[in-house]
Amino acid sequence: MTEPKRILVTGGAGFIGSALVRLLIAETDYEVLNVDALTYAGNESSLAPVAADPRYRFERADIRDAVAMARLLADFRPHVVTHLAAESHVDRSIDGPAAFIETNVVGTFTLLAATLDYWRGLAPDEQAAFRFHHISTDEVFGALGDEGFFTEQTAYDPRSPYSASKAGSDHLVSAWHHTYGLPVVTTNCSNNYGPYHFPEKLIPLMIIKCLAGEPLPVYGAGANVRDWLYVDDHVRALRAVFEGGRPGESYMVGGNSERTNLTVVNTICETLDRIRPRADGASYASQISYVTDRPGHDFRYAIDASKLKNELGWTPRETFESGIEKTIRWYLDNEGWWQDILSGAYAGERLGVSA
Ligand SMILES: NC(=O)c1ccc[n+]([C@@H]2O[C@H](COP(=O)([O-])OP(=O)(O)OC[C@H]3O[C@@H](n4cnc5c(N)ncnc54)[C@H](O)[C@@H]3O)[C@@H](O)[C@H]2O)c1
Repeated sequence: MTEPKRILVTGGAGFIGSALVRLLIAETDYEVLNVDALTYAGNESSLAPVAADPRYRFERADIRDAVAMARLLADFRPHVVTHLAAESHVDRSIDGPAAFIETNVVGTFTLLAATLDYWRGLAPDEQAAFRFHHISTDEVFGALGDEGFFTEQTAYDPRSPYSASKAGSDHLVSAWHHTYGLPVVTTNCSNNYGPYHFPEKLIPLMIIKCLAGEPLPVYGAGANVRDWLYVDDHVRALRAVFEGGRPGESYMVGGNSERTNLTVVNTICETLDRIRPRADGASYASQISYVTDRPGHDFRYAIDASKLKNELGWTPRETFESGIEKTIRWYLDNEGWWQDILSGAYAGERLGVSA
């Protein structure tokens, strides 16, 4: 009998990490060790659907803790490390960049060093099959104008403390491959949305403010463009890459769903008008209110994901409209999940205006 595959997921209590863990338990035979420090962004209740599964284990630990990382790697003996733990919110990086350097740069370095030590102790066939998968963002490439797409060849040009710290981590991962031979793969993904998304991010924030009858704050004229991807489509792409991607390569992941922020907000309003109309019959769009733009707000991100499609056969299952409807229905059905967060760490206030 072959041994079950073991995957160590960092940041598995976050938005995308928890979606990956839920998918791995639901759709594969992997044993999963979730390593997460449970910062404000980590939420164990996002793992309730898998918590009792014998193939799932949770360990509260910080990726900057070299001793803990070495111990967890030695005990669990993973075939794959997928690295999602990060400080991830641009507005928070403007108000407090230090935590981004600490976790995204120093933390990634610490995890890489521990992983290299562990990998060097494996048998040659295990070394060849091992993967360190680094999850990154399209924001490392800076901003686009009206035309063009980011590809794997696009030069790095980060503009915010968040994207600069992620760019730094991407370079470290690449260096650990070229210098030490660690079999790494990297993915750079566009904006995700979906269930269990922390309520300070654009899409859940707008859904929740719609329901509360509060103004919907749109930055500037709402003209900034993002390429939106439903989170389950992202985690399927992650699986395709750590199972089939070539070591040393990076893969762009995107939904081919470019929308301006104003279109995103209008789509949420129209969907809610249809499935949960306001008591007074007015459209939720009447709550839209324009606010001063974020400092250094990148104009447009767009992804060309052809390499991932051509090499590994991945395509997104959701359109933006089908994914938004699923997301809205999840927020309507799971009010307890986000009310708990709103009553604790985060009160829906505006962040990222201190520049
Ligand atoms: N959300 C997006 O749209 C998006 C798009 C592309 C790439 N990414 C990348 O995907 C990854 C996951 O993003 P997300 O949106 O799920 O983030 P998130 O903020 O929801 O989750 C991050 C998780 O990492 C944990 N964490 C933070 N610092 C840690 C530390 N020092 N040690 C251990 N755990 C720590 C947090 O507790 C949290 O559970 C990030 O690396 C992010 O850069 C996100």
